[in-house]
Amino acid sequence: MISVRDSRCGLPRTRTTITIGSRDAEKATDRASAYEERLSDHGVKTDINGTDNSSAAAGADVVILAIPPHHVGDTVAALTADDVLSDQVLISPAVGMKGDGDGLHYRPPSTGSVTELVAERAPDSVPVAGAFHNLAADRLADLEVTLDVDTLVVADDPAVGERVVTLTDALAGARPIPAGPLSNAAEVESLTPLLINIARYNEDMHDVGVTFN
Ligand SMILES: NC(=O)c1ccc[n+]([C@@H]2O[C@H](COP(=O)([O-])OP(=O)(O)OC[C@H]3O[C@@H](n4cnc5c(N)ncnc54)[C@H](OP(=O)(O)O)[C@@H]3O)[C@@H](O)[C@H]2O)c1
Repeated sequence: MISVRDSRCGLPRTRTTITIGSRDAEKATDRASAYEERLSDHGVKTDINGTDNSSAAAGADVVILAIPPHHVGDTVAALTADDVLSDQVLISPAVGMKGDGDGLHYRPPSTGSVTELVAERAPDSVPVAGAFHNLAADRLADLEVTLDVDTLVVADDPAVGERVVTLTDALAGARPIPAGPLSNAAEVESLTPLLINIARYNEDMHDVGVTFN
């Protein structure tokens, strides 16, 4: 899980703080140090901390639920039970998929999408958005390449969607595109298995992304 405090999220912060959340606080601290070191090697000074999931979410403006799809709902329910969610924007990038010999196939939960599952498990006052579903992790993590991809943003409240768009704008090479309310999340999520299948069946296409024009 990743939590973010940032002035671009609509609050008067003067600098960005990233916190890695984990079920194991020590693991999160180790990962945070490794990310800081890697970015420092690229000449980027950052402020990255690590702690347990509840502490990470408690102090955040934005929480990115980078957790396997089958565990996102329980994680949000645990954060709700810990009473740490108030007005943080929860962003779900999770996609339910099942593989067979042919490839990966979209398998959403009964709510229609994982993004809507997050909204169902979060307190009513906590805004939920879907984003980053179609960004390949290896491409995101490669600091040598320009991303050059679009990411679709869904949110019921346009102001919440705008906060996510503004934050995503800060991610070099990623263009956020509003795609409507949470009821449109299934269409956005379902692009991910398609992209992974394209990569599987085309030797020269790794970590495929989408751009819309
Ligand atoms: N990988 C991609 O290219 C990609 C692209 C787009 C979207 N996504 C979506 O992003 C999400 C994260 O993907 P990922 O590849 O980073 O997944 P991952 O490496 O399998 O899992 C990410 C983290 O989730 C935590 N986790 C694992 N099992 C858990 C459980 N039972 N309960 C709570 N937390 C658990 C673990 O952190 P701790 O052990 O530290 O708690 C783990 O490091 C997924 O929902 C995926 O659909 C992934």
